[in-house]
Amino acid sequence: MKELLEVIEGRRSVLRFKPDPIPNADLEKILEAGRWAPSYANSQPWKFIVVRDPERRRALGALVERILVFRPGRVALSSPGVGEAPVVIAVVVDPARSPLHHLEAGAAAAQNMALMAHVLGYGSFWAGVAGRGEVEREIKRILRVPRGMRVVALLPLGKPAYEPEPGQRFPLAEIVVQEQMG
Ligand SMILES: Cc1cc2nc3c(=O)[nH]c(=O)nc-3n(C[C@H](O)[C@H](O)[C@H](O)COP(=O)(O)O)c2cc1C
Repeated sequence: MKELLEVIEGRRSVLRFKPDPIPNADLEKILEAGRWAPSYANSQPWKFIVVRDPERRRALGALVERILVFRPGRVALSSPGVGEAPVVIAVVVDPARSPLHHLEAGAAAAQNMALMAHVLGYGSFWAGVAGRGEVEREIKRILRVPRGMRVVALLPLGKPAYEPEPGQRFPLAEIVVQEQMG
């Protein structure tokens, strides 16, 4: 078993996928990891929509490709990976179940799933759709998400089609503050 920090550091956004299917046993572990995320007052305000249908995935992918993504040193269109991955998980949350903290809960679940996918040898990336107006609305229409609910993220999952570059982060010295800021 890899050390937790090694797992966390080793996870990279993977943007392109091989078409190989994901066995149900692996998918179940990924979903279990999402189920065990923390949430305010243990409200568990989420649903995880598993999308396998190729046309539905392609429709989601076409929407995600409209999102501009800021990557180090450049702005790019989001990758076509959502349409290409064999499975896409939509993380959806219900503000009625957790009025103040539904988005954080969904984010924790999404990250848990991304980490479990990585440990199992799958890649994923976080397609951030919450608050993206028309894109989020269209995704809700395609997945028949009830009006009041929010889509936090789409997570395409599949075997990586390439080896991602090593990750980059600000050093701890730049981001850790002792006691108080300023
Ligand atoms: C809230 C959120 C939204 C994101 N949205 C997108 C997106 O729409 N498209 C995309 O390609 N990557 C998206 N990403 C992935 C980030 O670009 C990526 O995590 C970041 O560049 C760091 O790279 P790493 O995940 O390989 O460490 C998103 C990540 C987060 C946390």
